[in-house]
Amino acid sequence: MSLLSMFKGKGPSGFGYGSTAEEVTEGVDLSGRTMLLTGCNSGIGKETLRVLAKRGAHVIAAARTVDKARAACGEVSGETTPVACELSEPASVEACVDEVTRLGRPLSAIVCNAGIMALPQLHLKHGYELQFFTNHIGHFSLVTSLLDQLTDDGRVVMVSSDAHKGAPRAGIQLDNLDGSRGYSPWAAYGQSKLANLLFAKHLAKRLQGTGKTANSLHPGVIRTNLARNMNPIARVALSIGEPLVLKTIPEGAATQCYLAANSGVAGVSGKYFADCNVAEPSARGRDDALAEQLWDISEKIVAEVT
Ligand SMILES: NC(=O)c1ccc[n+]([C@@H]2O[C@H](COP(=O)([O-])OP(=O)(O)OC[C@H]3O[C@@H](n4cnc5c(N)ncnc54)[C@H](OP(=O)(O)O)[C@@H]3O)[C@@H](O)[C@H]2O)c1
Repeated sequence: MSLLSMFKGKGPSGFGYGSTAEEVTEGVDLSGRTMLLTGCNSGIGKETLRVLAKRGAHVIAAARTVDKARAACGEVSGETTPVACELSEPASVEACVDEVTRLGRPLSAIVCNAGIMALPQLHLKHGYELQFFTNHIGHFSLVTSLLDQLTDDGRVVMVSSDAHKGAPRAGIQLDNLDGSRGYSPWAAYGQSKLANLLFAKHLAKRLQGTGKTANSLHPGVIRTNLARNMNPIARVALSIGEPLVLKTIPEGAATQCYLAANSGVAGVSGKYFADCNVAEPSARGRDDALAEQLWDISEKIVAEVT
C-alpha cells in the first residue's frame, strides 16, 4: 500500500486512490468474456493482465512481439492468447486486427494501455512524431478496426494521463504532427495523452445509442519502465520518493480494471476517470471540436500509412 493512500479517501464509486486492481474487481465474474489488452508485458499492463485473467476473462494479450506476449501470459494463471502488436507499425497493427478477428471471440473490452513517454529527441515514424504515432494513431487504428467485434455492451478503455494537461496550448498541434515546428519531450507526451482522452470522448459520441462505451483514465503516478527516458537524477528522486508519493503497481492498475470490468460503470461513456472516479480533464480535454478534428485527421493518417 502506498503511504498517500492512507490520507486519501474513497470517492462516490466506493473506491479511491489506494484501491487495487484486485479490490475493484472483487466478486466480478468475467468467465465467458474476452478482453483485448495492449502493453501486457510490463508495468500496470502486466498487473491488468494478471487480474483480468484471475477474474476469469480470456485475455488477448498484446505486446510488441509475440515472444514478449507469450512470456507475460506464461506468468499468469487463467485463459490468455498472446498476440503481437507493435503500435508504431501499421502492418503489425493490421496483422493483430486480423488475428483477433480470426479468433472470433466477441470483445467485452479493449484496454489500450501501451505507451511510451517523453522521448528526449524527436523520433519520426511514417513522418509523424513517435509518441503521437504510437500512443494515439496505433490505438486509434486498432480500436476503430475492431469496433464490430465489441459486444453490445463492450467497453473501450483508453489509458491517458493527467500529463494531458501539459499538452501544447493548441492541445493537439495539428500543424506540427511531424515536430518540424518544434519538439518538447513532455509536451509531445502530453499531446499524445490528450489524443487518447479526446479519442475516447469522440468515440463515445459516435457510439451513443449502441450500448458500447468509451472512457479514458489517469492511472496515477507509478514507477514503471515508462520512466526509462527520464534523466537518471529524476529517476533516482522518483525511487527515493516512491513509498511517499507514488502508487504501487496494483493501485496503478485499478482504474483501468475498474473501467473494463466493474458493473458500477455499466453504460457510463465519454468520461475521464482517476482513482476509479470521474475526474475533470483540462479545458482542451473538454473540447468537442478539437476531438472531432483529431478524429478526422487520424482517419486520414491511418489511410495514408496503411
Ligand atoms: N507509470 C505512470 O506513472 C503513468 C502515469 C500516467 C499514465 N501512464 C500510462 O500508463 C500506461 C502503461 O504504462 P506503464 O507505466 O505500465 O509503463 P511500462 O511499464 O513502460 O509499460 C508500457 C507498455 O507499453 C508497451 N509499448 C511501448 N511502446 C509500444 C509500441 N510501439 N507498441 C506496442 N507496445 C508498446 C511496452 O512494451 P515494451 O516493454 O516492449 O517496451 C510496455 O508493455 C501508458 O499508456 C502510460 O502512458 C502511466
